[in-house]
Amino acid sequence: MAVFINSVRMPEPGDTSLEKVHPRPRRPFRPKAPLSVLALIALVLVLQFLFLPQYIYQSDSPGAIKLSQHHLHKLEAGLQKCKEYNTPPVQYPVTRAGSRSNPRWNPETGQKQTIFLKNATLFDGENILRDAVDIVLKRGVIKSVTKSGSAIPEDPVFEEFDLEGQYITPGLVDMHSHHLAFAWPLLGATADTNEKGLKTGPLTPQVRIVDSMKAYDIATTIIASGGVTTSLILPGSVNIIGGEAAIVKNLLRSGENSEEVVEEILLEHGVPQNERRRYMKMACGENPRRLYFHTRMGNSWLFREHMERARELMVKQDEWCLTAQAVKEQGDVEVTRAFITSGPVNSATDYLEYESSIAILRGQVGVNIHCYETEDMEDMIKNSKEFGFRIQAFHHALDAWEVPEMIKASGENITIATFSDFGFYKKEAYEANLWAGKILAKHGVPVAYKSDHVQEETNAKYLLFQAATAHAFDLPEDLALQSVTSVPARSLQIDHRVGYVRSGYDADLVIWNSHPLTVGATALQVYIDGRGTLDPKVVEDSGAANAGKSNLKAPIIPTVVTAEKIAQFCAEAERPDSTLVVTGIQQSYLNEKYPSSTSPNATLVISKGRILCFSSLLDCAPHTDSSTTTINLENGHVLPGLTAFSVSLGLSEIPVEASSLDGSIGKSPSSLEADNVVYAKYGVHLEGRGFGRARIGGVTRAITAPLSDGFAGGVSVGIKASGNHTVFDGGIFKDDVALHFHVGQGAKADNLPTISSEIQKLRQILSDNKGKDNIYGQAANGSIPLAVHADNEYDIMQLINVKKDFNTTDLVLLGGSSAHLVANELASSNIPLILTHPRPAPDTFPKLNSLPGPPLSRHPATALTEAGVKYAIAITGESDCHIHNLLIEASWAAKFAGLTKGEAVGLVSWRVDEILGLSGDGGDEKDFVVYEGDPLEFGARVVLGVEGGDGRVGMCWPESN
Ligand SMILES: *[C@@H]1O[C@H](CO)[C@@H](O)[C@H](O)[C@H]1NC(C)=O
Ligand SMILES: *[C@@H]1O[C@H](CO)[C@@H](O)[C@H](O)[C@H]1NC(C)=O
Ligand SMILES: *[C@@H]1O[C@H](CO)[C@@H](O)[C@H](O)[C@H]1NC(C)=O
Ligand SMILES: *[C@@H]1O[C@H](CO)[C@@H](O)[C@H](O)[C@H]1NC(C)=O
Repeated sequence: MAVFINSVRMPEPGDTSLEKVHPRPRRPFRPKAPLSVLALIALVLVLQFLFLPQYIYQSDSPGAIKLSQHHLHKLEAGLQKCKEYNTPPVQYPVTRAGSRSNPRWNPETGQKQTIFLKNATLFDGENILRDAVDIVLKRGVIKSVTKSGSAIPEDPVFEEFDLEGQYITPGLVDMHSHHLAFAWPLLGATADTNEKGLKTGPLTPQVRIVDSMKAYDIATTIIASGGVTTSLILPGSVNIIGGEAAIVKNLLRSGENSEEVVEEILLEHGVPQNERRRYMKMACGENPRRLYFHTRMGNSWLFREHMERARELMVKQDEWCLTAQAVKEQGDVEVTRAFITSGPVNSATDYLEYESSIAILRGQVGVNIHCYETEDMEDMIKNSKEFGFRIQAFHHALDAWEVPEMIKASGENITIATFSDFGFYKKEAYEANLWAGKILAKHGVPVAYKSDHVQEETNAKYLLFQAATAHAFDLPEDLALQSVTSVPARSLQIDHRVGYVRSGYDADLVIWNSHPLTVGATALQVYIDGRGTLDPKVVEDSGAANAGKSNLKAPIIPTVVTAEKIAQFCAEAERPDSTLVVTGIQQSYLNEKYPSSTSPNATLVISKGRILCFSSLLDCAPHTDSSTTTINLENGHVLPGLTAFSVSLGLSEIPVEASSLDGSIGKSPSSLEADNVVYAKYGVHLEGRGFGRARIGGVTRAITAPLSDGFAGGVSVGIKASGNHTVFDGGIFKDDVALHFHVGQGAKADNLPTISSEIQKLRQILSDNKGKDNIYGQAANGSIPLAVHADNEYDIMQLINVKKDFNTTDLVLLGGSSAHLVANELASSNIPLILTHPRPAPDTFPKLNSLPGPPLSRHPATALTEAGVKYAIAITGESDCHIHNLLIEASWAAKFAGLTKGEAVGLVSWRVDEILGLSGDGGDEKDFVVYEGDPLEFGARVVLGVEGGDGRVGMCWPESN
């Protein structure tokens, strides 16, 4: 019956008073039923209600008895609420030409001086405009955007910048972040995103993230320096309904008094409370399952039960409102008193605990659901139909690419707010696909990239990097840029203020040092409400201005070679006796035999996995005949195969699923004796999702250490990432690479309760085993590298002392978040570093002094290079999902550290080999990889990877698999 009572709120033809109090709420997805039937039922219900004995009008004595003020007041207050309940969110028009003011602006700290930005290349939220533009910012609003040179501002201009064609984009919009609620450095005391204590269990719509926010989170400024000016701050995802979210501008202390006031960083600060947008966080799938031990069917029931209760309460509210209006019109004192006292206003109109859920049903709250898997999205769409609410966006949604038509068929225009490459960390993230953005866009599903900002791996500062990665995997340039600007702005219904650079919009925009989709694109200035948030001196010192200067073109994504051509070429390549000819090689970085200076447009002839000829087409002609297979490249590059120090390649498939792992050395292994050291070589599986991405990134070899939760790290193994190997046929190229230990907060355990005891234990192991023929003895005498993982500068200082006292050890530092602070000492003590944090963040207490990176500080690689530290680069994280960007990370670091492209390649190939003593392995012939495109920029494609040693083609067009 509830469904039909609900329909009383539908407009009744001719009943204008009802219309006025109950304007038709904007609920686009109400269940369909014949209007006439509903109207009839509605009429009957209303009449029935009005003629209940206690409400019968005393219409013969109007005004005879004065209504008590008390009752009248209560009635009016209730009716006011009724009005609010049925008022749809305000539809703001996109006003033009500065007629709009920015509600966040204030005369004390707001933009005072008019700013004139001349000659910019503009992505306006939709496209990159063909002509350069001039932009005027005034009082926090974009006053005008005009063709460059066509107009001068009418106001006196105080600040004028000639951009000489540099890129401007709208301030980026991140529709999924947790900063401010869970502030940096992450501490137990401030983990305020998931409400777990309430008796309402996994249903906590009544909580609001604003109540958790801290308007002093240092991450906010770091995020803004990445060009992200607007963020939706959401509760976490352990609850099925997690609470209300809030939108902020990433400018701390932006109110009149420059104080730490949460209200003053809200996007809608200055907008009346009842006109503000509202958002709800919901979650399905693994997280709510894990915390509360329900199944998916149980979770769905809990959700439906809750929403059904909300619907009942909504109906009660509506009934009360109808009657109240009738009572008011009647104006009879007895009726009013009876009405007010018999059904107290509060129980009828105020259900605080359910207020948010009822508001969802009234279309007043945007629903944003953390949902990964196809079955979970299907379920939620079903639920949205049952209860008549609209889903604004599915977040994470790494499986959405498998069901774009199902998502579209919902009719709800659901945005997919997702990651471009993060994945694999749990079962529901296992189907992550680098081409998901392209696939969804092709089906017309709106795609937004978002950070999920919590720690370094999800640092919202690098939101744009995700759009660039998606672009590298075939999402068109305009859609890639829209995915972090106008698409999230539209999805959140704030596209009348942000997401575009057009007149009338908030003056939030970013000046970039290069095309925004290029490697290492960095903000030179970020305006929020017309206020420049970066100090030009700091930006200058960070090296941002020089790092990408010449890079004003979008990365080139090679035109797709047909599947037939690829299949044909690869079939030939796999024959052991084939001869392959690759033309159009423009650049080689093969270090020794074939130096970088190879003549342009060279030809490469590969026979039986060996380079037969690498010269001009003419020179190589004698090696080609009718039996050779040729592939013509336009911008071919040849590089050594990359060596990745991996997160867990070959040992871990889905980190939280024990059955997909080799297993982890516990925090407190019962014995640290040499006999109990764990060797990765006995556990590796030479296949998995990470291998696919490694190949796409040109990685042919990986070093993997045993999984460990504590101090003892076991012995790493060297495995082939290319090829289809087993442990019988060379899949392991080096059995024992290094002996690993972890030092720092994360390594504390029952048997090593302090960092000091970790250091002491390490020293003891080295001294006790000196001269012994066991693995510890080998590490002590330097015949195997001693690889110690540490990030904090004080912990690293202790390791430098260990090296001084045990100078025969070949101590290698892994990690190194704060290594820049001890760079000189590392260099002088000859301790090489594998930097696993090329873009570190002060996300935890021990890492508080790590560099936030340009434009706020120097790049860590700059400091290491200047000090002369021997270092290589690796990627850290929960899984090896980012491994395809290994060379991109090196290229990024190299741009800031002033390294050549050749040196950048070295950071992820021969430098790693050198540091871990791998140089002599794999025979004289080394792995090499042929690419179409420049692999130091986005978009290059691996064509062929040839393994040194046995000289076989280990990979051919890996992206096509
Ligand atoms: C804008 O900058 C570009 C690139 O530096 C330059 O070629 C062009 O002449 C400039 N246009 C104007 C109107 O200043
Ligand atoms: C769907 O949403 C996108 C982005 O939010 C918007 O551009 C588009 O116009 C919407 N389409 C429809 C049919 O509403
Ligand atoms: C490279 O050489 C091929 C044939 O050898 C020729 O067709 C092509 O135009 C050349 N490209 C460039 C950029 O010189
Ligand atoms: C890898 O090798 C095995 C055994 O030789 C074979 O069955 C399998 O199909 C191969 N897989 C691929 C992807 O080539």
